[in-house]
Amino acid sequence: MKNTGFIFDLDGVIVDTAGYHYLAWKKLADELGIEFTEEDNEQFKGVSRQRCLEILLEMGNIEVEPEQFESWLKEKNEEYLTYIGKMDESEILPDVPKVLKYLIERNIPMALGSASKNAAPILEKVKLKPYFTSIVDGNAVTKAKPDPEVFLIAAKDLGVDPKHCIVFEDALAGIQAANTAGMISIGIGDPEILAEANFNFRDFTEIDNDFLNELINLEN
Ligand code: BG6
Ligand code: MG
Repeated sequence: MKNTGFIFDLDGVIVDTAGYHYLAWKKLADELGIEFTEEDNEQFKGVSRQRCLEILLEMGNIEVEPEQFESWLKEKNEEYLTYIGKMDESEILPDVPKVLKYLIERNIPMALGSASKNAAPILEKVKLKPYFTSIVDGNAVTKAKPDPEVFLIAAKDLGVDPKHCIVFEDALAGIQAANTAGMISIGIGDPEILAEANFNFRDFTEIDNDFLNELINLEN
């Protein structure tokens, strides 16, 4: 039997942290006098911390020296960490544990493939770390999604051929990264935004065991 691997994005797939990222960016934006709405925050999904700050500064027409840039990155992250510190299992998105349990009971190797440098502490806070054989996060990559690097490293760690990997993603950049890696992409969220995905679901409550079995046994 061929070996199948499952790779999960973190923010927006396993936990709903977009609101915390928003509040932390909003605080910095307010300080800098930049108008920043929840709608603007959509562009930040799946995007590295560094790129988010670049976009924010572009919105405010602000140019800065590298030292100041680093200091704002740090300030945003410290604010974000105050929210993360209070997280617990209640912030896991609906039916995610059900899917993870189903897969682990069948010895399917699973990896995390996230742009976040805070992925490991978040997984620990919500007590899902033991499910993952490999955690590939923002500290492990040199190129951000839509580059496929994060998922290719995860496939290598799992010892699974990329074409036998299934990726769950809520950001278009992540779907594109999975597609470029030659993997099966599953969009979680708005099917219009994630139209490039091979399969689309609003959330994990729509994913049943028959579909998981289909993925596990997919001939591709
Ligand atoms: C992604 C989020 O998972 O991680 C982005 O969707 C975020 O919004 C990125 O900017 C980086 O996160 P962190 O925790 O390293 O600042
Ligand atoms: Mg995401």
